[in-house]
Amino acid sequence: MKIFLSILLPYLIGCFSSAYFLGKVSKNIDIRNYGSGNAGATNALRVLGKKMGVLTFVLDILKGIVAVLLGKALLGFNGSLLASFFVVLGHNFPIFLKFKGGKGVATSFGVLLILSWKVGLLCLLGAAIVILFTRYVSLGSITAAVLAPLFIVLTSDTVDKTLYFTVWILATLLVLRHKANIIRLCNREENKLGNNI
Ligand code: G3P
Repeated sequence: MKIFLSILLPYLIGCFSSAYFLGKVSKNIDIRNYGSGNAGATNALRVLGKKMGVLTFVLDILKGIVAVLLGKALLGFNGSLLASFFVVLGHNFPIFLKFKGGKGVATSFGVLLILSWKVGLLCLLGAAIVILFTRYVSLGSITAAVLAPLFIVLTSDTVDKTLYFTVWILATLLVLRHKANIIRLCNREENKLGNNI
């Protein structure tokens, strides 16, 4: 039963799409029909403005944090790992929105803050540096995902294999969800922060 709850509850938490909800509340629009079409913080910033962008980012981080803590309370360390995967899955593929959600950046960041706050903060720093120099949020997100498994190894003497595997899965999922961004980056067509974002 606890395994079932460690999967179902994080998934449902992830399904709450902050960007979609704030789009409906503030402008009565489906954010997935605007901007990049992504139900995430960057697109909320782009379509709904700064306040809603920041609020989306914070809410999506909180989803990750709450889900992992819940998984931990239910099943300990393994529960937190299960919850990590399923909250991001819910965010990316929400059942209530016909499985069209976000890319899991902020939620994965929230997850990482609980699994390993050092790795979370290092990833944030890595993303911030890339975004600062290139103004591509997507490139910053992808860089953070690629660095996450490396930071896991660098920040601890003994690496837990299941933790390492979970971070790898989350990183891979994040990169795969950025397929359209990667194509736009290669074609030099990706939106830059500041240019209508
Ligand atoms: O928040 C996800 C970010 O990495 C890219 O977002 O809307 O530009 O596809 P977007």
